[in-house]
Amino acid sequence: MSQLIIRGGSRLEGETEIQGAKNSVLPILAATLLTAGQVELRGCPRLRDVDASVRILEGLGCTARWEGPDTLTVDTRSLEGCAVSEALMREMRSSAIFLGAILARCGQAELSYPGGCELGPRPIDLHLSGLRDLGAEIDDAGGVLHCKALRLRGREVVLSFPSVGATENLMLAACGASGVTTIANAAREPEIVDLQGFLTACGARVSGAGTSTVSVEGGRTLHGCTYTVMPDRIAAATYLCAAASAGGEIFLRRAREEHLSTVTAVLREAGCAIRSDEEGVACACRGRPAAVRPVRTAPYPGFPTDAQAILMAALLRCRGAAVFEENMFENRYRHVDELARMGANIRVSGRAAVVTGVERLHGAPVRCTDLRGGAALCVAALAAEGETEVSETGHIDRGYEDIARDLRALGAEARRLER
Ligand code: UD1
Repeated sequence: MSQLIIRGGSRLEGETEIQGAKNSVLPILAATLLTAGQVELRGCPRLRDVDASVRILEGLGCTARWEGPDTLTVDTRSLEGCAVSEALMREMRSSAIFLGAILARCGQAELSYPGGCELGPRPIDLHLSGLRDLGAEIDDAGGVLHCKALRLRGREVVLSFPSVGATENLMLAACGASGVTTIANAAREPEIVDLQGFLTACGARVSGAGTSTVSVEGGRTLHGCTYTVMPDRIAAATYLCAAASAGGEIFLRRAREEHLSTVTAVLREAGCAIRSDEEGVACACRGRPAAVRPVRTAPYPGFPTDAQAILMAALLRCRGAAVFEENMFENRYRHVDELARMGANIRVSGRAAVVTGVERLHGAPVRCTDLRGGAALCVAALAAEGETEVSETGHIDRGYEDIARDLRALGAEARRLER
């Protein structure tokens, strides 16, 4: 059991380098299965979810080795299975992303149903109906997905919602299908563009990522490659919000503002001065944040649901009120009760939350409820007087390499306590 101890109330000053993106590296690790070769991933973040993905690859007979602080080499030539155990599936809900890749490589796959998570139900109906469109036979009785596809055939697949995971799963399956697959109403997240970049580096023909129509010309033999994972836009958003919360001047090396423009737009409205260039993003904030217009989460390029809790934490001391509308997940306000322990004034009604800015926050013992909710507690703690003890930090480790290290580099008093 570990805790994060954060002493708030002082301005930040410093710089840190943004880790590789969790949501990019997970589908890329699944995609390594398509190559039957050796892949060197640079800028690979060391995260609990990456460890879980590596265990899935190893469970399938592949090998993976860290070659340095952030280089992971994966060799999928020795793949010998097509089943992922229930225990491994439970470790990481986004493991459904392995379905398309295993199916493309082996012609069959067996995975347990990912089920719900901290954020509420986590259906994969769009993944399954898209794979069925490509010719997969899927039997999902008894909580286990038995999938078979002697031959996947490319065609147009229309998603009824631009799901990130479904788009990625279909891109991977389509690499193993004959002919051309077109994914209509595809998700447009930067991580989809990164997945296209990786697949292209392996010799795949994929185009359109970043737009609503992604095309894959399947049936090509893919080879290994060396690829650098894009920087994590949500980690960058977290540290920008940390500066807005505590005040101060920070620089985030490698951060890319073009991936974050809806977040930086709100922070500018709150009074932060933000500049960016090819090196990274700089942010200077002083005093209490100003009130901002309502923030509504939506698929990219809308405001990211993953930054909702974090931004809320940054605005707890705003002058006025801030309204949030969560449109992506049912259960994404679980951090609110914990923030209230620190003196926050937040009212939740259905998918809306209203923050009424308070003058002061105070340190308190708080508990992480989920990954980004946990990060939000750290952001709030930086503005709170006294010490905050954040417990159940395992959630945070799923997506941040070492949040205490990064916050210290930014001038905060933060340490990890192993119990
Ligand atoms: C990804 C991100 C997650 C982020 C989310 C939304 C990864 C590993 N995770 O998750 O951090 O919060 O995008 O930006 O990249 N849905 C269905 N049926 C489906 C699939 C999704 O109803 O088959 C619903 C979900 O319940 C949710 C919404 O669609 O309400 C968005 O989900 P989706 O875009 O698929 O998110 P993930 O890929 O799971």
